[in-house]
Amino acid sequence: MRERKSAKLNQQQPQPQLQHHQNGHLSPFKLAKLLDPDASWDKLIGFQIEKLVFMIQDQLGDVLHWTRQALGLFCGLIWGAIPLVGGLWFLLFAAVSTGIIYAYYAIVLKVDEEEFGGHGALLQEGLFASISVFLDALYRTCSAANTSNTAERFVLTTPLYYVNAPPHMGSAYTTIAADAIARFQRLLGKKVVFITGTDEHGEKIANAAAGNGSTPIKHCDSVSQAYGALWRELDISYDKFIRTTNPNHEAIVKEFYSRVLANGDIYRADYEGLYCVNCEEYKLYLCEPVNLKDEKELLENKCCPVHLKPCLDRKEDNYFFALSKYQKQLEEILEENPDFVQPSYRLHEVQGWVKNGLRDFSISRTSVDWGIPVPSDAKQTIYVWFDALLGYISALSEEEEQPSLQNAISSGWPASLHLIGKDILRFHAVYWPAMLMSAGVSLPKKVFGHGFLTKDGLKMGKSLGNTLEPTDLVHRFGPDAVRYFFLKEVEFGNDGDYSEERFINIVNANLANTIGNLLNRTLGLLRKNCQSTIAVDSAIAAEGNTLKDAVEKLVEKARQHYENLELSSACAAVLEIGSAGNVYIDEKAPWSLFKQGESGFTTASKDLIIVLEAMRIVAIALSPITPSLSSKIYTQLGYSEDQFSSITWSETRWGGLKQGHVTAPPKPVFSRIDLETEPTNTTDDTKKTSKKKDKQKTQKVVEA
Ligand code: MSP
Repeated sequence: MRERKSAKLNQQQPQPQLQHHQNGHLSPFKLAKLLDPDASWDKLIGFQIEKLVFMIQDQLGDVLHWTRQALGLFCGLIWGAIPLVGGLWFLLFAAVSTGIIYAYYAIVLKVDEEEFGGHGALLQEGLFASISVFLDALYRTCSAANTSNTAERFVLTTPLYYVNAPPHMGSAYTTIAADAIARFQRLLGKKVVFITGTDEHGEKIANAAAGNGSTPIKHCDSVSQAYGALWRELDISYDKFIRTTNPNHEAIVKEFYSRVLANGDIYRADYEGLYCVNCEEYKLYLCEPVNLKDEKELLENKCCPVHLKPCLDRKEDNYFFALSKYQKQLEEILEENPDFVQPSYRLHEVQGWVKNGLRDFSISRTSVDWGIPVPSDAKQTIYVWFDALLGYISALSEEEEQPSLQNAISSGWPASLHLIGKDILRFHAVYWPAMLMSAGVSLPKKVFGHGFLTKDGLKMGKSLGNTLEPTDLVHRFGPDAVRYFFLKEVEFGNDGDYSEERFINIVNANLANTIGNLLNRTLGLLRKNCQSTIAVDSAIAAEGNTLKDAVEKLVEKARQHYENLELSSACAAVLEIGSAGNVYIDEKAPWSLFKQGESGFTTASKDLIIVLEAMRIVAIALSPITPSLSSKIYTQLGYSEDQFSSITWSETRWGGLKQGHVTAPPKPVFSRIDLETEPTNTTDDTKKTSKKKDKQKTQKVVEA
């Protein structure tokens, strides 16, 4: 950060007229004068000019992006500096803001104009405000021009969820994480395409529809809608929702199949093995070659280790994909691109599979009707995984466009990141790259395999029936609590067990106390003592301040963690800002300083500004995780919803709260979860809790 030479607050000087104004209305300028009696008009206007220089320097700071910066600056200058255009704008600003400010003081606040310094002073104040507004507008134009057309694209995907049953907390977990990453990348100014959707073909879905006495498509429509509804409740900001029953998708799958066929990678053969319908995967092969070690251990009675259900004997005449042909290339890709599979321990797992030898796999089914017909053989349908993976590409195609692989690819492929659970790593890190290579399509840049949410150590899932109901959690605790808990408490990559008691403790301690309470009491003090007005720029208030230094380090740490997909550590770094703010305010005790009258006023009001600036930074840095809470913090700090929705990560730089800014009347941003602890059941040591006020049913956890 650059040092600024701005006017220093003079704490030694007596504070003229402070008592006189304490119960009346102080204009931002008057407050600034009280805090800095030396500040003169030319100094304050000089500061605005200095601010512009500072902003321009910032804009030009990143040499790597000099072209974009120069373009942005050029646009800004055209807008602001050509006398005819810029000059007219400026005059308009000056006239309007002078009028508004004059009217505000004279009519709304009924300020005694003599005491204020006469009409001249009021008009000067208007002029001063208009210069600020004009310079800020110029800066915003420069920034906007910088991020518009040249923004880098970031395409990320969740898995496409099976619609055999409604979503559960395990499926919601991947999507919440993807949403946090998408929001962070948007804050960086990237053009994000966040893809999610539903995987609707195959035996498992056909069985589920039959079990419900429904047709497959009606069943798919209803479960797919349930996913969409849950994403809305969880504040998921997806850009594309692909359903594999979408005709555009089907056209693209067929085209892809034909390309792979033309490349000589599809052949017909017999297949025999033990098949897990829930995994939609052969678990053990009873056909050649039999000695490959890529098979997973089956449990007793041929049970699948994930779903604990017996696998079925299957023998079919199918079309095969020549995966084994790509062994060498896959080995090289994994070797040369260690970031391709993350975390690194999953990369090692994948390397192990590939090294042990790859088996060609069947990509069609004769026994399944509910699927996309194989081109040129209508008796077979395409294997559900060969179909679904292509959803990541077909999602990119525009509705109005002719559905074609090329059109879809040119709308943003390759994906920057596939986010998946560890159970489907082999499909994404082995099958999918080989399929893409065969069709001559570029590979995604990264596959991240996260861990499982577990219940009593077992993967939570639809097939085991030990799920946690996400809608119920959201209705009881709100989306921010749910998002925060799972992202903060489960280290991304590892497994994590859910307990309601821990959920409530964490959310109350972190969101309600450390963040919510700190904001509320600081705003309360500002309202009581400073008419909710920021008396001096936060950058000036915090010159040489230790909290500011800590915040700058922590926010940079949070940024790096977000970049590395370490979401839990990113949350922890932001929370540390809140904790540091609490320690700071407790140590400084501004409430006592205010009681000392004029002598403590300067220091106390600066301390409040410093803590509120830290909270502003918390709001931005936590917005990928808790968007709705962050928006409330922003509103409490006196900003509009529009201002919140256009924030960027660069605004986590210290100095956003400006002199004269007025905060909103304090209102809690996050209510504590109050639960009555029910008597412990002695035969079952599971602690049961129920919500005091909210009569909604508590979470259902069906034990496996
Ligand atoms: N349809 C396939 C994916 C095709 S992608 C082209 C599928 N669907 S799924 O619904 O079974 O699983 C979707 C995702 O949810 C997977 O990443 C899976 O790991 C994740 N989860 C399902 N249960 C989970 C937990 N209990 N915990 C965390 N994630 C889990 O596989």
